[in-house]
Amino acid sequence: MTKKAIITSDLHYGITSPSRLLQLKDLMLRHDPSVIIIAGDIGEPAHDFKSCLELFSDIHCPVGVVIGNHDLYNTAGFNHSEELWNEVLPGIVKECGFVWMESESIVLGETSFIGSMAWYEYSSRAPELDHLPDDFFFASKGRFVSDGIYIDWEREDKALAAELLERLLKRLKKAQEDPSVRRIVVVTHVPLFPGQMVHYRSDNAYADAYFGNFTFGKEISRFSKVTDIVSGHTHRGIDKVIGNIRVQVIPSDYRKPDFIVIGF
Ligand SMILES: [Fe+2]
Repeated sequence: MTKKAIITSDLHYGITSPSRLLQLKDLMLRHDPSVIIIAGDIGEPAHDFKSCLELFSDIHCPVGVVIGNHDLYNTAGFNHSEELWNEVLPGIVKECGFVWMESESIVLGETSFIGSMAWYEYSSRAPELDHLPDDFFFASKGRFVSDGIYIDWEREDKALAAELLERLLKRLKKAQEDPSVRRIVVVTHVPLFPGQMVHYRSDNAYADAYFGNFTFGKEISRFSKVTDIVSGHTHRGIDKVIGNIRVQVIPSDYRKPDFIVIGF
């Protein structure tokens, strides 16, 4: 019998009401999922992140958590983003009995679910802005997206993206070489292909630079066992085949949370 994986994202606890999120949970559970993955932008500040995950803590199947950029916002002034990333958020995920997917994969039968926040390094910038140096996008981030205002760590985007990619590729390589794994489903917060991007140019010509990482997409596509890549972040659903991979963006939006189902 086919098992089902449910992948949701962009729950934005607080903007989306707890009662709406509980409805979402009920709809998810009707599918009798074997695994649920929450792909980032769960809630900020950290107490909202926790309240959101607690809504799902009575679920009996494994629940994997991928972090999103909003989860790193230090908007309550009680933790730096670095502490959120290294200690606070992984601690809450563990307390809820969920899987911190940045370091742990979920393997069910012959399918491995591998997750990462991924992070932008400006490879998704609008082509007409190609002439601008990376330093421009780093230095000007706060003008174009709120990450530049509310994420208060010292990290540089390119270094973080490279670090997350290296860690993800290690896990992909391991799964690719493991004869007991026949299929890999990759889940990221940030989209990885031009075909996943929703263009925000009407709002802000520069914002695309902070909405994707096409280097991740190219690298992950090299692994023949990867059948699916599912991302969040842009709030507008996409479902297409790129090469041999089904590539989706979860159509989950503010006050209208949603999910996708993958049979395996
Ligand atoms: Fe996001």
